[in-house]
Amino acid sequence: MMKRMISGCWLVAVACGMAYAAEPEPVVNYDESKAGNLPLPELLKTSAGQTVETADAWIKIRRPEIVAMFERHVYGKTPPPEAWGKVEWKIAGIKRDALGGLATRKLVHVSLPGHPAWQGMDVMLYVPNKRTGPAPCFAGLSFNGNHAVSDEPDIPLSARWMREDKTGGAEGNRATELSRGKELGRWPLKMLMERGFAVATAYCGDLEPDHADGWKTGLRAALSPDGAKTVWCDGEWGAIGAWAWGLSRIADCLESDPDIDSKHLAVIGHSRLGKTALWAGACDPRFSLVVSNESGEGGAALMRRDIGETTAIITKAFPHWFTPTYARYAGKAADCPVDQHMLVALIAPRSIYIASAVDDRWADPKGEFLAGLDAEPVFALFGMKGYGTTTQPPPGKPVGDAIGYHIREGKHDLTEYDWQQYAEFAKRRFGEEK
Ligand code: GCU
Repeated sequence: MMKRMISGCWLVAVACGMAYAAEPEPVVNYDESKAGNLPLPELLKTSAGQTVETADAWIKIRRPEIVAMFERHVYGKTPPPEAWGKVEWKIAGIKRDALGGLATRKLVHVSLPGHPAWQGMDVMLYVPNKRTGPAPCFAGLSFNGNHAVSDEPDIPLSARWMREDKTGGAEGNRATELSRGKELGRWPLKMLMERGFAVATAYCGDLEPDHADGWKTGLRAALSPDGAKTVWCDGEWGAIGAWAWGLSRIADCLESDPDIDSKHLAVIGHSRLGKTALWAGACDPRFSLVVSNESGEGGAALMRRDIGETTAIITKAFPHWFTPTYARYAGKAADCPVDQHMLVALIAPRSIYIASAVDDRWADPKGEFLAGLDAEPVFALFGMKGYGTTTQPPPGKPVGDAIGYHIREGKHDLTEYDWQQYAEFAKRRFGEEK
């Protein structure tokens, strides 16, 4: 966790062109008695002061208000379809005996003919060969590219910007052969194929390289009317918005694929990509399940709790992830009109699973648990049950009905144990929806 914090500070130093020594040490609190637990904004009271008592009033009045507030204050507004125009999909390859015959692997290149400055996104889809019908699918972005998610040697190495990697997986900000399969531990493809799930993924850097200037060569610059913006304004989208847009384009691909059961799409992400999965799920109702793996601050963790990473820390280290407005709440969480339980609530009446890890105190596991608990009144409007408990369960004891939760032993990561819970949960929730 210390390492995660330090890397954040290092980024600040690079982004601002300052020496690290000039940065004051961020004060990080881990003492629950000092968490503050400020009162949360009201979920079920409209801006006109009316109490929301029905699912209909939630859908028609309160939900759109909350979406607009997240756009304005946290993630920024995703440009409408007119802004990006035609989307083109080109099949770049199909391999029917992938993963030792367990799966069919499809590579699809997504581009915007009207915006050639964007180099497009390479989607990789694995569909289980053994199945009785179209497969439900998990869709999520990776940190290092498709060639890192799977170790199959014929997947093209991503040619995009990569974060430098001490183990030699990236040199001069380009992937090397050493990064093949680097994220395999986070993507148990074989286990998922055996359980009948398809998996769709793409590299987040195809949408926007993850650094302060990444937008200049990513989707955001390509779609901005002047193409050469220097300043992003309050309410305009950040990298999380661009990444989430990519997840929705993956959903487009999946919807058009007869091998996929597009009524049962789960969007998943770890950490910064967990924040992204939550925002994608909030914006795109085609994701019938949203999985937040240790998404922390700016994800599932309540911002009004001062534990681990705070708004002040995250907006300093990673300002490009959010709309500029968000940084104004540094040290002033109580002034923000939303908190993250409202983001979780936007997923209703679909299903959501939130997961934490014991040693991931930076992400505030309790704050992640509480966001789900505090979202329950909205699920209740739809007759849906949440955790079934108000107490955070012990490690290794998952809880929940339409809102699932677990905390596991260990560090910040996406592990096979986590995926097993997601697969079980998806099987149950999707089965109930059939
Ligand atoms: C940093 C950051 C977190 C983020 C994490 C990650 O630790 O502070 O907010 O979730 O990186 O994406 O791994």
